[in-house]
Amino acid sequence: MREDARDAALRVDEQRLWQRHAEMAKIGAIPGNGVNRAALSKEDIVARKLLLSWAAKRNFTIGVDAIGNLFIRRAGTDADAAPIMTGSHMDTQPRGGRFDGIYGVLAGFEALEAMDEAGIKTRRPIEVVAWTNEEGGRFAPCTMGSMVFTGARPLADVLDVTDNEGVILKDALAQTLAATPEAKQREFKSPAAGYIEVHIEQGPLLENAQKTIGVVTGIQGLRWFNIEVSGKTDHAGTTPLALRKDAVRDSIAIINALTELTHDPADVTRFTVGRMLVTPNSPNSVASHVLFSVDIRHPDPQTIAKLGAAVEPLARKAAKFCEVKVTPTLHDDPCVFNADVAGEIETATRELDLPYMRLSSGASHDANYMSRVCPTAMIFVPCEKGVSHNEAENATPGDLAAGARVLTAALIQLANK
Ligand code: GLV
Ligand code: MN
Ligand code: MN
Repeated sequence: MREDARDAALRVDEQRLWQRHAEMAKIGAIPGNGVNRAALSKEDIVARKLLLSWAAKRNFTIGVDAIGNLFIRRAGTDADAAPIMTGSHMDTQPRGGRFDGIYGVLAGFEALEAMDEAGIKTRRPIEVVAWTNEEGGRFAPCTMGSMVFTGARPLADVLDVTDNEGVILKDALAQTLAATPEAKQREFKSPAAGYIEVHIEQGPLLENAQKTIGVVTGIQGLRWFNIEVSGKTDHAGTTPLALRKDAVRDSIAIINALTELTHDPADVTRFTVGRMLVTPNSPNSVASHVLFSVDIRHPDPQTIAKLGAAVEPLARKAAKFCEVKVTPTLHDDPCVFNADVAGEIETATRELDLPYMRLSSGASHDANYMSRVCPTAMIFVPCEKGVSHNEAENATPGDLAAGARVLTAALIQLANK
């Protein structure tokens, strides 16, 4: 590792990084130490402004694209060179924690500050990106910002998505964009020479193995669907079963069929129904309509393809009384990260004397989309008992700083290639 990379890595300020997590955690704070900062909400806007206020104190330039991805750039010596990018997201789950996403943004920003303080120059610019709507908890699907940035789906495809209250994404996006007029407009698909995302592991492997750093080798495959079941509302006390078109009853049958489909004694397959909207949602009315989400994951490309293809026919067969509409909303094949970028991360980890292991990600990340357009890998740090998407999510200041140090060194190495 270059001497200047080590010097900058050691300037990562554990206290400053921790303090910034605490400040961000106040925005959308919920009981139990958690955070509810939905994408494109007023809390998201406050977090964006806070991040940009920190950037304004440095000589960094600020950009934003039409889906609201924010970019903070530290200049390189070669003005024409494509940047090395790093970052993650600032939105959270409705009952999320203080680290999922925001850590990758704050660690990236800490890396830029450490480089400034070490007086480092890099050939390529380095950019921190805060991706819009990684979680998909309010507007489906997840990883929306990176999906649109990389051209995997056009912006027009997602503008009409609505949240549970009927708010249309394009309106929430317009409000969010209007709140940061100082950011320069930037095109989608701007070139990147590499991408590293830092994140808490969101699982127990690092903690159990007593390792500080995870060198992440890839992300498992993921399929999302919306299933809409349409029947007829009726009186709960008077309508005989034979005359009902009960959307809840059929939804339960579909979910049972999918549970059987995804049954896996090895516990590798993941199947979740996490969102359910029932209409009219009244105890004494038969439900006329149910919309629910399906999330299925598996690391093997053939297996996830087979499971994904089985969803619609199985849902149609399981429903006995109602109309069924199945809409795929996300199709992510498993991704394998770039060996050279993972190698730089591993080298930096070793040279900073940190215990590490290689592992694959069970959770999805914007790095999946970035890996399709530039050499990409990820760094994980442990989180307490592997708990995530939960208010109790926790990580130590020392581990967060260690991840930021590895990131700083690896970014400098890549930005000088
Ligand atoms: C991201 O939050 C995911 O669902 O894996
Ligand atoms: Mn995340
Ligand atoms: Mn998440």
